[in-house]
Amino acid sequence: MTQVDTYLTADDAATALRSDAERGLTSTPKWLPPKWFYDARGSELFEDITRLPEYYPTRAEREILGARAAGIAAHTGAQTLVELGSGSSEKTRLLLDALRDNGSLRTFVPLDVSGTALREAVEAIDADYPGLTIHGVVGDFTEHLSRLPGEQPRLVAFLGGTIGNLLPAERAGFLHSVRDVLQPGEWLLLGTDLVKDEGTLVAAYDDAAGVTAEFNRNVLRVLNRELGADFDVEAFTHRAVWDAENEWIEMRLVATRAMHVRVPGIGLEVDFAEGEQMRTEISAKFRRDKVATELEAAGFVLDQWWTDEAGRFALSLARAV
Ligand code: AVJ
Repeated sequence: MTQVDTYLTADDAATALRSDAERGLTSTPKWLPPKWFYDARGSELFEDITRLPEYYPTRAEREILGARAAGIAAHTGAQTLVELGSGSSEKTRLLLDALRDNGSLRTFVPLDVSGTALREAVEAIDADYPGLTIHGVVGDFTEHLSRLPGEQPRLVAFLGGTIGNLLPAERAGFLHSVRDVLQPGEWLLLGTDLVKDEGTLVAAYDDAAGVTAEFNRNVLRVLNRELGADFDVEAFTHRAVWDAENEWIEMRLVATRAMHVRVPGIGLEVDFAEGEQMRTEISAKFRRDKVATELEAAGFVLDQWWTDEAGRFALSLARAV
């Protein structure tokens, strides 16, 4: 049985893009939120990133899930798996398999901003998990968490380190809203990349093959297509900077020459100075204490903490209190 509820239409997404572009491009310094990387091409580029030698988080998280999924299933006894930002299904399947083998799994609730990606995921999972109820939600995980379907106890998985793409205040708001839709005793499984040496971090976000650079510039292609903008995409270069104070990686686009850019979709014209840098993503890196503190502030308790063998990435299992 499958069902897809839409809380976020293509129109809503277009409105959000206009408002984000207007806010970001008129700020000093300019910035754009990372969620707009992920059109079809951006999503493919991200999949390519996950296979790069320098980009370790995906492999590290998969290693942890491979080792711990059965234990997570036994410990939580979850009847519902909710996956926020259910991008690629490979890691989801490790959890679904473990919960099915545990005998508790009844419902899978994938939530994604892309209706197309979500419907594809729903169909693929439906074909491989006979008897599973799939209740997809097209929505934004920062806005559409007010109702989560499925039998309790539910396990909400937010993987990939995507929580690191939120600013600290957004992160707190997000964790509170997840806590708000859960009952005491339900679960959050959270993937976080960890603080490590600068060289490893910068390489992961500035790979030798230039895939991350293409991914970064893709946001300009999205603005060109969706807002009729005339960014000269090739005139921007990619930069990844480690901010040691905030403990996050910042991705920026650097204007290689002065440019005047028209963005008719929002009635805006903006100037870039030669060398001007525009922030397009933060990717925060964590330590155990910071994760535990932020979870506790939101009404969770950190129940289990696992890292990969090399200690690069962590999975936290948190219980709503
Ligand atoms: C997996 C979405 C969290 O911050 O590492 C990869 C996206 N950006 N390379 C991350 C990303 C640049 C990413 N997330």
